[in-house]
Amino acid sequence: MLSRNIVKCSFLVFAGSVSIAAAQTDNPNRSDKAATPDTQKVRILSYAADVAPMISKACLPCHAAASENPSGLALDNFEMLMKGGEHGKPVVAGKPDESSLFTKLSAKPPFGRQMPRKRPPLSPEEIGLISNWIVQGAKP
Ligand code: HEC
Repeated sequence: MLSRNIVKCSFLVFAGSVSIAAAQTDNPNRSDKAATPDTQKVRILSYAADVAPMISKACLPCHAAASENPSGLALDNFEMLMKGGEHGKPVVAGKPDESSLFTKLSAKPPFGRQMPRKRPPLSPEEIGLISNWIVQGAKP
C-alpha cells in the first residue's frame, strides 16, 4: 500500500513556510552541536534550471535589452544579469543582502519599488530560491 516517504527539502525551507510534523528521533539533550550541513542532500541551484524560468516570466516583460530595460538592467541571460546596469551589479555571489536581485523583491526594498513592478510579488518560495542560489555562489 502507500508508503510514506518523508522527503527532506532542507535547502528550500524559507522563513517558516513549511512545517512538517515528523517523528522526532533526535535527542534534544545531545551535547554535540554538529551544525555541519548534510551536503549530500543539498542540490546546487543553477541559473539556467532554477532562476531563469522565474526571471523570464516575471521580469523580462520590462528588463529585456529590447524592451523598456529600466536602469539599463537587462536580464535576458546570465551574462547580462551578472554584468548589471547603471547602478552596478545586482548579484554579489554569496551575499543576498548585498544583491539587488534579491533585496528588490522584498516589500521594502532599499531603493525604488518592489519588483516585479506593478505585478504580484514573487512567492516566499521563489524569493527563497533566489536567495539560496546567491548563497550557493550564483552559478550559471
Ligand atoms: C513593469 C516593469 C518591471 C518589471 C516586470 C520588473 N521590473 Fe525591475 N525595475 C523596473 C523599473 C521601472 C525600475 C527602476 C525603478 C526602481 O528601481 O524601482 C526597476 C529596477 C530594478 C532593479 C534595480 C536596478 C538598479 O540597479 O537600479 C532590479 C535589481 C530589478 N528591477 C529587478 C527586477 C526583477 C528581479 C524583476 C522580476 C522579478 C523585475 N525587476 C521586474 C521595472 C520592472
